[in-house]
Amino acid sequence: MRQAGRYMKEYRELREKERNFLGFCKNVELATKVSLLPLELLKVDAIIIFSDILVPLEPMGAKIEFLDGEGPKVYWDGDVKSLKRISYRDTDFVNQVIRNVKTLQKEVPVIGFCGAPFTLLSYLVEGQSSRDLRNTKLFMWGNPNYPKIMSLMVENLIEYLEGQAKAGADVLQVFDSWAMYLSYEDYSCYARDVLKPFFEELKKRINVPIIYFYRGSQSFLKEVDKLNVDAVSVDWTVDIISCMSESDKVFQGNLDPHVLYASEEVLEERVRSFLAKIPRKTGYIFNLGHGLMPDMDFKKVKLLVDIVKSFRVL
Ligand code: CP3
Repeated sequence: MRQAGRYMKEYRELREKERNFLGFCKNVELATKVSLLPLELLKVDAIIIFSDILVPLEPMGAKIEFLDGEGPKVYWDGDVKSLKRISYRDTDFVNQVIRNVKTLQKEVPVIGFCGAPFTLLSYLVEGQSSRDLRNTKLFMWGNPNYPKIMSLMVENLIEYLEGQAKAGADVLQVFDSWAMYLSYEDYSCYARDVLKPFFEELKKRINVPIIYFYRGSQSFLKEVDKLNVDAVSVDWTVDIISCMSESDKVFQGNLDPHVLYASEEVLEERVRSFLAKIPRKTGYIFNLGHGLMPDMDFKKVKLLVDIVKSFRVL
């Protein structure tokens, strides 16, 4: 999760061949190679395909740019009429990467993904990652086009994910990275009016498990529990044990990624004590609570994977 490849020298070397990040995502051969790196080098139990949540915004009519060291920039003229319905064919390079990864390895499942409607709206409205999502909130509260844009987003994301499922994705993950800026009340409305119909329709159309990742308050879980998703991926700020007692869903994540900056001894101790507290009967998928940072040490990441894979519940 979270632009993971950057801590790998193998990724950085391949990126030298294509400096334009979006160009890299569209280069099926390179994107396939990078998707396979974590399986080859770390022996993880699943592969998330290499792409970005902003990819579908381009065929929708926004201009996307990734500038080195500055993060993504999104240009949209603010006119709802300039946003289009998309077809899965508009981003067939994503589907092709999935087909390739499925063909080249049969050991582990392949995860397709997209951004959640609110998180993608925030990029359209703010034009970049933002500290407070002020304009997105104002848009939500006061722009009469908000419902229209959200239903277009939902239709497009369903089409986009259906394309990935048809291409062979075994699991789909939806990233709501910026939900944490919402109040409980606003999150509840968004969950009821946008996320609920989104996942209901998605489940009618596709038959693969869905993971919903959100960063945000534990109070949101009450709403998340009502969504038609199979698993909930959480950041490190929530108490996963009480989440598991509040909801029957499978949980994923929760380990603070910063443990990867600690010494090997501290890392090992933190990871083992974390795993030991997860109740055995509850479905749990190990993952970090958010992503890896570019300056994290590959050796520590490998150690983390090895500790998790060798962990046995007594
Ligand atoms: O992690 C992986 O490598 C798997 C593929 C993947 C990428 N982005 C590749 C990427 C996935 C699953 C994402 C999701 C994504 N993208 C999210 C949701 C998860 C999260 O982080 O909360 C978000 C919010 C984005 C938007 C985005 N794209 C940001 C904020 C950035 C980083 C900007 C920066 O410089 O810190 C990107 C760029 C990006 N996406 C990179 C990669 C490998 C880095 C590009 C590079 O420099 O090589």
